[in-house]
Amino acid sequence: MTSPTDQAWAIRTRDLRKTYQRGTVVAVGGLDLAIPRGGVHGFLGPNGSGKTTTLRMLLGLARPDSGTMELLGEPVPERLAEVIDRVGAIVESPKFFASMSGRKNLALLAQGIGVPLNRVGEVLEQVGLAARGKDLAGRYSLGMKQRLAIAATLLKDPELLIFDEPTNGLDPAGIHEVRTTMRALADQGKTVVVSSHILAEVQQVADTVSIIARGRLLRSGTVAELLAGGASRVRVRVADTDAAARLLLAASYEVQPHSDGALMVRCPGQPTAPEEVARLLGEAGIWPSELGLMADNLEQVFLDLTRDEHLGATQFMPQGRSHTDGGAA
Ligand SMILES: Nc1ncnc2c1ncn2[C@@H]1O[C@H](COP(=O)(O)OP(=O)(O)OP(=O)(O)O)[C@@H](O)[C@H]1O
Ligand SMILES: [Mg+2]
Repeated sequence: MTSPTDQAWAIRTRDLRKTYQRGTVVAVGGLDLAIPRGGVHGFLGPNGSGKTTTLRMLLGLARPDSGTMELLGEPVPERLAEVIDRVGAIVESPKFFASMSGRKNLALLAQGIGVPLNRVGEVLEQVGLAARGKDLAGRYSLGMKQRLAIAATLLKDPELLIFDEPTNGLDPAGIHEVRTTMRALADQGKTVVVSSHILAEVQQVADTVSIIARGRLLRSGTVAELLAGGASRVRVRVADTDAAARLLLAASYEVQPHSDGALMVRCPGQPTAPEEVARLLGEAGIWPSELGLMADNLEQVFLDLTRDEHLGATQFMPQGRSHTDGGAA
C-alpha cells in the first residue's frame, strides 16, 4: 500500500485525536503532521500541547481515539512490528546502570536486541563518546548521559530517530553537544525528529519544523519559511511612551511595551516598515532616541500565531501593566 509519494514522509498523521479522562482532557485534537524524510525536524509546542502524547501514539505506547498515522510510509499501529526496527526513539528518560561503563551498558542493550557487539564502538563514535566509553555511566555529565541514550537508539542503525525533549535539563554546553550530535546524524542521512517546548533553541538546528498548540498544527515548513512569514517588528524608545502608543494604535499598529521601557510596534498583516514608524512619530513631534527593526525568531512567530487567544493580555495598556514583555528581547 506504499506509493512513491508516501516515501517522502518520515511521519504522517491525519486528524489524529487522543483524549484523557473520558474525553474531558484533549491531549491531541485533530493533528495533521507531515514530517519530511531527511534532516532535523523540530516538533514544537508549549508545555501540554500534545507532543509526547503524539510521539507515544506513533510508537505504539498509547492508543489514539481516532485518526491515522504513518511511520516511514507504513500505517501504524497496524504495521508497527514491521517498521519499528527502522526507528530509534527516546520518549521516556532512559535508564542506565550507573556502576557500569557506558560501553558495558550499550553492550548489554545490544545483546538484548540481538545486535552485533561491534556496533557498540560505532555508536559511541557517532555520538562523540568513544574516548569516554570506559568511564562509569554514573559519572557522565547530563549531556553525556543524553548522548549515551542517543547512542543506544542508534544500535539498530535506524533511519528515523525520534527524541522527545532531549535537551531538557541540560546546560548550554550540554545542549550544544546534543544539538551537534543531532546535526551530525542528519548529515549522515538519518531523519531526526526532535520535540521541544523551547522554540528558539531548536531553531538553530532544525531544517524544518511543525509548530503545534493545544494538540493541533499551527504551522509547518522550513525555518526560513516560517521566519519569512512572521511579522517583523520595530523597537522604539521615546520619552513619552503613552503619547507614542496612542498615536501608533490610532494608526492601526499593534503596540506592546517591552520590560525595558521600549515599545514593540508591529504592523498587522504586512512587514513593519521602520521608516513609516519614524515618520509618523516625527510628524507628531515625538523623536525616538532608539528605533530599529527586530529580527523575528520562532518564539515570536509562535506568539504571533497564538496572539488571538491572548489578545487581552498582550495588548498595550497605557494605564496598567501587560502580562508579557513583548517577547523580543
Ligand atoms: N496519561 C494521561 N492522563 C491524563 N492526561 C494526560 C495524560 N498524558 C497527557 N495528558 C494531558 O494531555 C495534554 C498533553 O500532554 P503532553 O504530555 O502530550 O504534552 P507535551 O506537549 O509533551 O508537554 P511538555 O512540553 O510539558 O512535555 C496535557 O494536558 C496533559 O496533562
Ligand atoms: Mg512532553
